[in-house]
Amino acid sequence: MTEAERTSILWAHAGNAAELAHLHGELFDTPWNTSSIEQLLAHPGSISLVACAGQPLKTAGFAIGQVAADEAELLTVAVRRDAQRKGVGKSLVQAIGRAAKNAGARKLYLEVAADNTAALALYQTLQFTVTGRRKAYYERPGAQAEDAITMALQL
Ligand SMILES: CC(C)(COP(=O)(O)OP(=O)(O)OC[C@H]1O[C@@H](n2cnc3c(N)ncnc32)[C@H](O)[C@@H]1OP(=O)(O)O)[C@@H](O)C(=O)NCCC(=O)NCCS
Repeated sequence: MTEAERTSILWAHAGNAAELAHLHGELFDTPWNTSSIEQLLAHPGSISLVACAGQPLKTAGFAIGQVAADEAELLTVAVRRDAQRKGVGKSLVQAIGRAAKNAGARKLYLEVAADNTAALALYQTLQFTVTGRRKAYYERPGAQAEDAITMALQL
């Protein structure tokens, strides 16, 4: 059985916010704080999931999305460094797609930094297609701003 098969995907709730903010801070240059994650989880269109794996079960990653009418957006997906390349990110994004579709969305949109090779590879594996490029979209402290690639998946 693979790590992904041993992974449980659960709905995220306000009680997860501090832990998710901590994990986000370990993985992104511009971390989201607990209160902004709480607000995202409380959003009426929130589809936010936590992946738990291991023995005892511990948080391996999470994904936050939002649905509005027939469109959904994946706002973030993050997997703990020591849990990466085991299928957890793929399971999370697939689960966001299923939840968004069940909520009435027909397309799932996202944006990703052009130099984020891991995330780009993940989304390509999942059949997302590139829809555009936003020049110098991500500001980086002390470095050149990076382009954003916009992608979409038909659900
Ligand atoms: C992007 C991220 C979520 C991927 O999570 P993950 O659990 O490691 O991904 P998976 O194991 O499900 O990978 C599925 C497939 O995506 C591709 N992929 C994932 N990470 C990759 C990497 N570092 N290099 C190349 N391909 C990669 C591979 O095709 C992989 O399948 P394989 O392992 O069988 O080759 C993880 O690297 C992460 O949290 N990065 C930091 C946060 C981030 O950048 N999030 C995305 C913001 S847009």
